[in-house]
Amino acid sequence: MRLQLSTWQEVDSYLEASRGIIIPIGSTEQHGPNGLIGTDAICPEVIALAAAAQCGALVGPTISVGMAQHHLGFSGSVALRPTTLIAVVRDYVLSLARNGFERFYFLNGHGGNIATVNTAFSEIYAERSFAPSGSQPALRCKLANWFGFPSVIEISKELYADRDGSHATPSEISVTQAAYPEAIKASNIEPAPPRPRPFYDADDYRKIHPDGRIASDSAAATPQAGHRLIEASAASVVTDYQGFLAEI
Ligand code: NI
Repeated sequence: MRLQLSTWQEVDSYLEASRGIIIPIGSTEQHGPNGLIGTDAICPEVIALAAAAQCGALVGPTISVGMAQHHLGFSGSVALRPTTLIAVVRDYVLSLARNGFERFYFLNGHGGNIATVNTAFSEIYAERSFAPSGSQPALRCKLANWFGFPSVIEISKELYADRDGSHATPSEISVTQAAYPEAIKASNIEPAPPRPRPFYDADDYRKIHPDGRIASDSAAATPQAGHRLIEASAASVVTDYQGFLAEI
């Protein structure tokens, strides 16, 4: 069930049965010569919808722009600074909490979001903790990375081993190829070299990763791999989300 394709009365009915929602969160940033700029938002969105089809969860609108300042040296990348993303997550959660949502499960597709989203959760809890006890609706937030479940890591290792790299990975590009086969790009490219050192700002990132990828053999992506990864990740999301809802 998608929030955007529902009416408010349908949301009221949903709230009678469940107080949970899955929120895909990603980024809009370069993913090398054959990866889509929307990769990090497309992957969690597709997986969240697959999981929701199995467990009846509601899926909120994807937060498609994330903390990606280090990719701004490449055309088409869009970034929110950390303080902006914290405000976006906070307002998103508090909007839905106002009318009864209590468990917010963020399914993330971008490593650069993790620190900021966890900080947003701390801000939300701090707001509650500073208020008189019981004066605000109870709510809990959880962040899970679609690529971080053991079942997904196992498939990525089996298919790509250390050729997966850490940005514009064949695993994530495979997921986009399964979701949007019409947008598959030509991939006659060599693997990207290993990471020489950590990157800092956008100019520095482009200097040390000139085509945008980090250590990935992105040409190895296939839609078939993508279907396997979507299925495995969605199954893990269902288990993880249901466990989150069942927390006492
Ligand atoms: Ni990515």
